[in-house]
Amino acid sequence: MNEALNIVMLSSECVPYAKTGGLADVVGALPKALKALGHNVIVIMPLYRSIAYEKHDLSPFLSPMGVWMGNAEEWCSVHTVVGDDDVPVYFIEFAKYFDRDGLYHDADFNDFLDNPRRFAFLSRAGLQLCKDIEFHPDIVHVHDWQTALATAYLKIWHWDDPVLGDAASVLTIHNIGYQGVYDARDYDYVGLQSGNFTPDKLEDHGRMNFLKGGIHYADMVNTVSPTYADETRTPAFAHGLAPYLNDKGDNYLGILNGVDYSTWNPATDALIPARYTRDDLGGKALCKAALQRRFLLDVDPTIPVVGVVSRLAAQKGLDLLAQVIESIMQNMRVQFVLLGSGDKGLEAYFGGLPERYPGRIGSYVGYNNALAHWIEAGSDFFVMPSLYEPCGLNQIYSLKYGTLPIVRATGGLDDTVAQYDEATGQGTGFKFWEPSPHAIYYAVGWAVSTYYDRPHHIAQMIRRAMAQNFSWEESARAYVAVYRKALRNKATL
Ligand code: ADP
Ligand code: GLC
Repeated sequence: MNEALNIVMLSSECVPYAKTGGLADVVGALPKALKALGHNVIVIMPLYRSIAYEKHDLSPFLSPMGVWMGNAEEWCSVHTVVGDDDVPVYFIEFAKYFDRDGLYHDADFNDFLDNPRRFAFLSRAGLQLCKDIEFHPDIVHVHDWQTALATAYLKIWHWDDPVLGDAASVLTIHNIGYQGVYDARDYDYVGLQSGNFTPDKLEDHGRMNFLKGGIHYADMVNTVSPTYADETRTPAFAHGLAPYLNDKGDNYLGILNGVDYSTWNPATDALIPARYTRDDLGGKALCKAALQRRFLLDVDPTIPVVGVVSRLAAQKGLDLLAQVIESIMQNMRVQFVLLGSGDKGLEAYFGGLPERYPGRIGSYVGYNNALAHWIEAGSDFFVMPSLYEPCGLNQIYSLKYGTLPIVRATGGLDDTVAQYDEATGQGTGFKFWEPSPHAIYYAVGWAVSTYYDRPHHIAQMIRRAMAQNFSWEESARAYVAVYRKALRNKATL
C-alpha cells in the first residue's frame, strides 16, 4: 500500500513559469512536497509567450507530437526543464493557442474566444505526452476547469490504453466561480462523444461545462480548504454545482493549501528590504519604513499600515472596501497600500486614491511579485474582505510575515485565521462575517484601535502568527490519501 506513485499534474499555471493567482503557487509547491514523500511527479503546462525560455533554461524535448481532437489532428512540440526540486516540467508548444499575450484573456480582460479549444487541447496533449514518453501514471491530477476534461478523456478514450489505462484521476477545484462554460459549437472539436453531452455529465443548459464534466468523471474531487468544501455543498456558494458535489459523497473533500516557505519567509526573503524573525523584528520596522517611502507615505513607525494584494475581481470583495475606505481615512489614523489588477473600475478608483490622500494611501495598479513581498513584510495589517475564498494564500503569507490579517470568515480565511480575543489577547487576526462595507469598517477599526490601545496584544499576536506553520508536508500527505482512494474508487467501478 505504501509504494511510490507516478503522478502527472496537468495545469494551466505553475510558478515560476506562469502565474495569475494561487493556483500557480500550489502547482509549483505540491509536486515538490510529494517528491519529498517519495513519489514521482511530472508537471505538464502550456508554453505561453510570456515564459522566459532562456532564463528558465528550457530545452526542446519532442517534436512533433500529434494530438487527436474530436474532429482534427493538431501537431505541437514539447519542451522541458528539470527544476532544482528535481521535478520535470513539460511545456506544450502550440503557437496557435499559446503564443499570444495573456493566459486566459487579452489586456482588456476579454476572455479569448477559443479558450474551450485551447484548454481541451492542453488536457488531451498532456495525456498524449504521457503515452509518448511512456510515463505510466497512477494518478492524473488536474486543476480547475482548464484541465478538468482530462478526467473525461481518460474514462472515455483511454480506459484500456496500455500506458493510461490504470490511471485514476483527481480534480482539484481552486475556485468554483470559474467553470469553463462554453457554447456547444466546439463540442465536436473537444471530442467527448455526443452521448455524453447530457445534464449529468458535460452539458449545462445547452452549453458545455468543463468543471462539471470533471466533477462527474474524476475518481476523487477536492477543494482547497475544509470550510470551502462545506460551503460548496450549498447552493449559495456552488454556482450551480452543489447537487453534483453532493452526489460525490465522501469522494469530495477539502485539503488546506500549504505555503512554500522557501519563497515566503521573512527570515530568508531576498526580495524584501531587510530580513527578520519572530525573535528579532528589527527588520520588519525597516521594511515598513521602506514601504512608506516607496509609496510616498508619511514615514512614521507609529501609524499602522494596512496592505492589500489582490486580483481585483468580484470574489475578493474589494468593491465593498472601496465603499468605506474614505470613511476609514476620515475617521482613523491609518495608512493603506494597495496592489492589484483586474476590474477596470476598481483599478481607476484605487489608482486615483494616492492623489486624493497624499502621504496616506499608496497604490500600484498592475502585477508585481516583488511589491507583493514588500507589502506583506512592511504592513501591520493585511485586509481580505472576500465574498468567498477557496483557500487564500495571502493571509497565510501575512501570518508568516507578522502582518495580522483582517479577513471575512469564509472558506480558507476562516480555517487559517484565529479570531482575536480582547479579553486574553489570543488569536492571530481579526475576522468579520457580514459581507458589507460596514463590517469592513468596523473590523479595520477594531484592528486599528487594538494597535493603539492594546499594543501588547498586537505584539503577542505577531509572535503567534509568525509561529503558525502551514507547510506543504501535511497537505501532501492528505493528497496521497486522496490518490489512494481515487485508485480504490477506480478499481471498484
Ligand atoms: P487567488 O488565487 O484567488 O488570486 P490567492 O490568495 O490564493 O488568491 O493567491 C493570490 C496569489 O497571487 C498570491 O501569491 C499573491 O501574492 C499573488 N497576487 C495577486 N495579485 C497580485 C498582484 N497584483 N501583484 C503581485 N502578486 C499578486
Ligand atoms: C484560487 C482561489 C484561492 C486559492 C487558490 C489556490 O485562485 O481563489 O482562494 O488559494 O486558488 O488554491
